[in-house]
Amino acid sequence: MADYIYTLETRLTPDQQKAVTLVLDTAKAAGMNLYLTGGAIRDIITGFPIRDLDFTVQGNALKLQKDLERAGAVVGGADAETRSLLLTLPGGVRVEIGMARSERYDKPGKAPQMAPATIIEDLRRRDFTVNAMALSLNEGSRGLLMDPFNGVADIEAKVIRVLHNYAFLEDPSRMIRATRFSTRFHWPLEERTQARYESGKENNYIEHIRSSSIGHEIEQLAYEDDAHGVLKAYEKEGWLKVLNPRWSVAKVDTAGLGGLMKTRQQMNELGYTPEVAPAVLHFLTERLGDKDISDLRRAIPRKDLVEAWKDLDSNAHSLAKRLSGKEAATPSRTWQLLSSARPEMILFLAITARKQAVTQKIKNFFTKWRQVQQKIPLPEMTELRITPQMPTYPKIANDVFLLLLDGKLRSRTETLKFLKPLAPPPPPPPPPPSAKRGRGAKAAAVAAVVAPPAVAIGKPGAKGKGKVAAAPAAPVVPIKDKFAAATKPAVPAKPVAAAKALPAKPAVPAKPVAVAKALPAKPAVAAKVSKPTKAPAIKKPSKPAKPTKPAAKAKAKAGAKKKRK
Ligand code: CTP
Repeated sequence: MADYIYTLETRLTPDQQKAVTLVLDTAKAAGMNLYLTGGAIRDIITGFPIRDLDFTVQGNALKLQKDLERAGAVVGGADAETRSLLLTLPGGVRVEIGMARSERYDKPGKAPQMAPATIIEDLRRRDFTVNAMALSLNEGSRGLLMDPFNGVADIEAKVIRVLHNYAFLEDPSRMIRATRFSTRFHWPLEERTQARYESGKENNYIEHIRSSSIGHEIEQLAYEDDAHGVLKAYEKEGWLKVLNPRWSVAKVDTAGLGGLMKTRQQMNELGYTPEVAPAVLHFLTERLGDKDISDLRRAIPRKDLVEAWKDLDSNAHSLAKRLSGKEAATPSRTWQLLSSARPEMILFLAITARKQAVTQKIKNFFTKWRQVQQKIPLPEMTELRITPQMPTYPKIANDVFLLLLDGKLRSRTETLKFLKPLAPPPPPPPPPPSAKRGRGAKAAAVAAVVAPPAVAIGKPGAKGKGKVAAAPAAPVVPIKDKFAAATKPAVPAKPVAAAKALPAKPAVPAKPVAVAKALPAKPAVAAKVSKPTKAPAIKKPSKPAKPTKPAAKAKAKAGAKKKRK
């Protein structure tokens, strides 16, 4: 039997996993059973990206709202009729939590009678077999897949199949959805489903579509990877005018949409994951009139998406203005400005900026300036004991990067000259052997000389968490000597004070995470360096230091030898 929990855990992003835990804990605390349902299960099985998480609870999902908000959820919409919540959880995870319900259609085209129900009954009200599965997340049945219509088989066969003959008649939005899923997955409609679909088109079932379904389908378009392709399919099938009578493929800014997707891909490769849905809607409706755009916005149930769409232009305008002003007068300042801007805004501006200078700065941010990281002398920094374990490391790394970016450190020598005063003091010399008489003490002293204690000069690549790098066979040139020509005799300066002496305007102390993002490649290498030992205070050694390990070993050996004699 397939281990769906394992698949779930491996397929979800860390933020999605946290979202599952949060919703599960919240539902549990409220005494409700929770199931992962719909598209998420389909995507887990197929291997397609999991775009959002649909949960179904046995109980009123609206009761979970306050607890989820306290945990950082943003409520994008709440539907009193279906007792469901539309949420955005930390990390931008889109979630819908609905009440398990049955739906009874007394008259085609009219809203169904809804009633709280079991999860199996809930699956019976759904659109297609591949969407009518639920995974239990509850104790006792965790990992159990409920698949009453054999959706797994249809996933394997790659077909879209309705659950029964009246599916399109009862909910005509399923015809739009069939087109959408068929276009996205390149799966055909199963033969009988296709026949019902054609009949539905002929008999104009679509005129009975509910306005809430129209809003839902407009919203779903925003999250399609190939929204343009889906829109074309909608136009061909006659569905686009259902969503808005004046909408057509000709109203799309095709170049803008294409640029958006391409730049998003490039940003993804650099580790950014901007939410593109608001911008997708922007480009899809670029040439529609204001009234039609307002109608579309009103119809969309997820209000946080609508707000983000509305704000795009003004946010991009203000970022463009800042990028044209003093705040972005130098590469380092521009870097800092763009590093603190929301990725969504940079992405949108990259496509829509009118000024060449603004576009160029964004381009540099994503390409040329990143290569400057390679000039950071990581091996030398490690030798100087400037390692990620230092609390001031992120700031030092960031400062060096910014100075390099502005051309204020023009060579390796200059960079090392800047770094040297920021190095922490060297570790203390090896403690003297304890004053002992006899052969054992002598042997220990000899051993201490032959095998000097491990030193904390981390070498890139030295492995072992918390371990100290073994002393190299060839003596390491003392750092003091190595840079003596370039710098003054080493006065162990306080890192903070030294940083103040920066030639440029001191950089805003970056958070470690920000730096890690800003400098993704190299610091990662440096992070492998073994942890340096904490340097004990040199001035007042309170007790005689313990013998080092090699010394202790030698002592033991010598003791054993003595015994044998
Ligand atoms: N659903 C349905 N009929 C509808 C709308 C939704 O049966 N008219 C059910 C389906 O089970 C669907 C789930 O609600 O899987 C969630 O709907 P939606 O988010 O629109 O689609 P997903 O299947 O999640 O697909 P995706 O988010 O990948 O587009």
